[in-house]
Amino acid sequence: MKTKIITTIKIRRPDDLHVHFRDNDILKLVVPYTSRFFGRAIVMPNIEPPVININQAISYQKKICNAVPVEHKFMPLMTCYLTDNTNPKVVEEGFNCGVFIACKLYLANGTTNSKYGVSKISNIYTVFEKMEKLGIPLLVHGEVTNSKIDIFDREAYFIDLVMNPIRKKFPNLKIVFEHISTKEAVQYILSCKENLVATITPHHLLFNRNNMLSGSIKPHLYCSPILKSDIHQKALREAITMDCQLFFLGTDTAPHVQNNKESSRGCAGIFNAPTALAAYATVFDEMNAIENFEAFCSLNGAKFYGLPINEGFIELKRKKVFINEKISHNKINLIPFLANEFVDWEVNVV
Ligand code: DOR
Ligand code: ZN
Repeated sequence: MKTKIITTIKIRRPDDLHVHFRDNDILKLVVPYTSRFFGRAIVMPNIEPPVININQAISYQKKICNAVPVEHKFMPLMTCYLTDNTNPKVVEEGFNCGVFIACKLYLANGTTNSKYGVSKISNIYTVFEKMEKLGIPLLVHGEVTNSKIDIFDREAYFIDLVMNPIRKKFPNLKIVFEHISTKEAVQYILSCKENLVATITPHHLLFNRNNMLSGSIKPHLYCSPILKSDIHQKALREAITMDCQLFFLGTDTAPHVQNNKESSRGCAGIFNAPTALAAYATVFDEMNAIENFEAFCSLNGAKFYGLPINEGFIELKRKKVFINEKISHNKINLIPFLANEFVDWEVNVV
C-alpha cells in the first residue's frame, strides 16, 4: 500500500555500468545522452574491430571523451573484449596502468559483434586465473549460444553450463552477470553472495515478452537477452527492492539505426540512454521502493568496482515528459526507448 506520493527524488550522480557507445557518427550522437546525468559508464568493447588491446582502448576512450559536451562531467571506463587468443599479460598490463576496468566475455556468436568471442571457455582459463589473482572483474553476457536451445532458456542454461563451472574453478573471480532477465539468474545471484553481482536494465524491468509480441511486433523492444515472461519480469522487479547491494544499474543502452531495427532481420538492442533514469524511477516508484533507488543507481556498482561515489547530485521530479519519436543527426535516425510516450519523471543535474 502506498502511504505518500513522492514528488522529488535526489540522489548522488549515478553510474551506468553497461553501455554501448558504438563508433564514429553514432558515438557522437549518443554519448551526450549518457554523459549528461551519469558520472561514469562502463563501455562495452563490441565495436568493429573489437577492443582487444590497450592502444585500441585508449583511442576509443579518447573518441568518447571528445564527444562529451564541455559542461558535462563524465568518465568512460574501458573494457577488454576477450577472445580465444587474449593474452593474460595484456589484461594485466591494461588493468595495472588503469586503462581496463574489467574484461567482457561474449561467447562466440551470441549477440551483436560477438563473432570474435570465446569459442570454448577453457581457452581462456589462464586469463581468468590472472583476473582472479588481480581482482579484475569479469563481465558476462550470460546466454548459451547453442541454437538448439530455446532462446528463452539460454540464460538459465548458461548458469548451469558455463557460470557455475567458472565459479567452481575460480571462486575468487569477481563476476558481473550482465543484464539478467530471468528468475533463475536472480535466485542464482542471491544464493551465491560472494563475488557475484548483476546489472538489470530498464527494459527488462518495465516490459515482458507480451509487450514485445502481443498484437503487433515491437522491434524497438527486441534485445538480447530477449524479454521473458511476466514471471521473470516480476522476479527482477522484486530483486531491485532488496537491500542486498547485489544488483545495480546497467542500462545496456545499445543503439542501432532505425533501418536496422525496423528490418526483416532486425538487430537486438534498445537505445535507452535518453529515458533510462525516468524508466528506472517509474519501476522503483511502482514497487514502493524509492528508498532503494540511490543504492541501485549510484552506490552498489561503485562499491563493487572499488570506485569512489560520484560528486554531485541529480534530481528527479514527478512530471510528465513527452519522449520524441526520433533522435536524428546527419541521416542517422535513432528511436529512443519509450519514444512517443510520456515518462513520469523529469531528470535534472543539481
Ligand atoms: O540487446 C543487446 N544489444 N544485447 C547485447 O548483448 C548486445 C547489444 C548490442 O551491442 O547491440
Ligand atoms: Zn550490452
